[in-house]
Amino acid sequence: MSGDLRPDQRPAWQALEAHAESMRSAHLRDLFAASTDRFADFSRHTAGLTLDLSKQRWQPETVSLLLDLAREADVPGAIERLLNGERVNRSEDRPALHTALRLPQNASLIVDGGDVVPGVHRELSRMEAMVDKLHAGQWRGATGHAIRDVVNLGVGGSDLGPLMVTHALADYRPPEAQRIRVHFASTMDGSQLADYLSRFQPETTLFILSSKSFTTIDTLSNARTARDWLLSRLVGTGHGVQRDLVMRQHFIGVSASPDKMNEWEIAPANQLEFWDWVGGRYSLWGAIGLPIALITGMANFRALLAGAHAMDRHFQDAPLTDNLPVLLALAGIWNVNFLDIRAHSILPYDGRLAYFASYLEQLEMESNGKSVTHEGKVTSYSTCPVLWGQLGPNAQHAFYQLLHQGTQAVACDFIAPLKRYDDVADTATREHLIEQHRLTLANCFAQSRVLMLGDDAIKAPGVRPSHKRYRGNQPSTTVLLDRLTPDTLGALIALYEHKVFVQATIWDINPFDQWGVELGKQIAGETEQVLTSGDGLEAMDASSRGLIDALWAAEASMRSDEGPASEDGK
Ligand code: F6P
Repeated sequence: MSGDLRPDQRPAWQALEAHAESMRSAHLRDLFAASTDRFADFSRHTAGLTLDLSKQRWQPETVSLLLDLAREADVPGAIERLLNGERVNRSEDRPALHTALRLPQNASLIVDGGDVVPGVHRELSRMEAMVDKLHAGQWRGATGHAIRDVVNLGVGGSDLGPLMVTHALADYRPPEAQRIRVHFASTMDGSQLADYLSRFQPETTLFILSSKSFTTIDTLSNARTARDWLLSRLVGTGHGVQRDLVMRQHFIGVSASPDKMNEWEIAPANQLEFWDWVGGRYSLWGAIGLPIALITGMANFRALLAGAHAMDRHFQDAPLTDNLPVLLALAGIWNVNFLDIRAHSILPYDGRLAYFASYLEQLEMESNGKSVTHEGKVTSYSTCPVLWGQLGPNAQHAFYQLLHQGTQAVACDFIAPLKRYDDVADTATREHLIEQHRLTLANCFAQSRVLMLGDDAIKAPGVRPSHKRYRGNQPSTTVLLDRLTPDTLGALIALYEHKVFVQATIWDINPFDQWGVELGKQIAGETEQVLTSGDGLEAMDASSRGLIDALWAAEASMRSDEGPASEDGK
């Protein structure tokens, strides 16, 4: 360990800078030509995942120096502190214990003198009881009809994780889950909600208010609209239904703030709790995962937890040299800090992972989009790259042009399952779909190869005009899942969670707070007041004044329109 040194003053960082001088001009095609063993040397397998790092622009010496850097940053000690429940979230003085949410029932983890595991499993059991009741058609709305549509109202970590996983595991829906339809509304403008309210029956619709803080205006504004929609249609309309019955039969609350759920009149029996030591973007493993359990059933939800736990064990026990999250993190550090590659694209080759890139955008950028160290010093080095993504096959027809011939260096993560569709009952359809899967993987492997080799991927290149040239040398990682299952998805998500933690440890930043989102919320509140009252407009900048004037003019014209619809019917 190199004690109090800044990360970029550590001996290994300095050695890496010197090493990078020679590696910056290296081309991946030459690295592959120099060694036929790169796949064996740079690939690792655990928990149903194969991590191929051979297309990173590095060689064994690079990895060795990066591992030195990890040791100098005391990554092994940091892993222990994280998993043991120490207060690793220093700016908020609390542990970050998402891993405790996936500990088995017979485990024990003492935090502040108490074992957190029984509470975790108590909430899982309460969640299971709710899931069973909804699946069985025994959860009835205020007028006695069984609930059919469940709408999750939440945003950020209270939306993206469940949204991503329910989409990824929709194939695992058990027969008993068929009667329930699950929907997500996150945007504060009410776009998704307005659509649902126009189509669903209040008698058979239940809302999950998912919010760790229970103060997020996006979620609460949707929740207020939903509540009024229910009350105005169910209370005093001849059914003899009272307000408290509607609140009890049509709302579940999921939060770390029981007091706020009480204020909102969520019935105590319908409150699922989690704890301030679970970060919002790390929270899908507990009660925030209720929509997941509703879609997949509780057995599959528990399998998701088991897969993540398997990755936790690997993270804790595997030596750094074979530790998948550590190696994935080091590849990112190498690209950002030594090869100056500050863009990172996430490219799943499986339609079920359509929301995986959005999920990682929050996980990585909200965690590590920081420029101040634990001690409050401005970092003298880059941290989280800009991260974005899309389903790979679709992105091939959109932004891959930039990856192949643009001016930006971009690191890519290709993600795909090996096995798929062997369970399709109809033989002919199965064969077609297996062909489609093979085609998809051919594209996945081809793209990473072309990004690596450039023109050298072409068998007989001949003389080619410059607009048809590919320079290659764009590094990539490939993650292969044996099969996309609850277990491997759990392991995949945990892989990235731990990657983020290792990078934060090396960068000496806190991945568990998000102060950067607070000022915007505060100024939005002030702006709303200006919009409503006009007070304070003159003190604002010219752009804000112009935009506000434009909105006021639009509102005035809307008010002068006759009836609810304007002339063009919108
Ligand atoms: O504004 C950012 C954020 O706090 C995220 O970190 C969080 O996932 C999201 O808002 C939603 O917060 P909550 O679950 O408290 O409503």
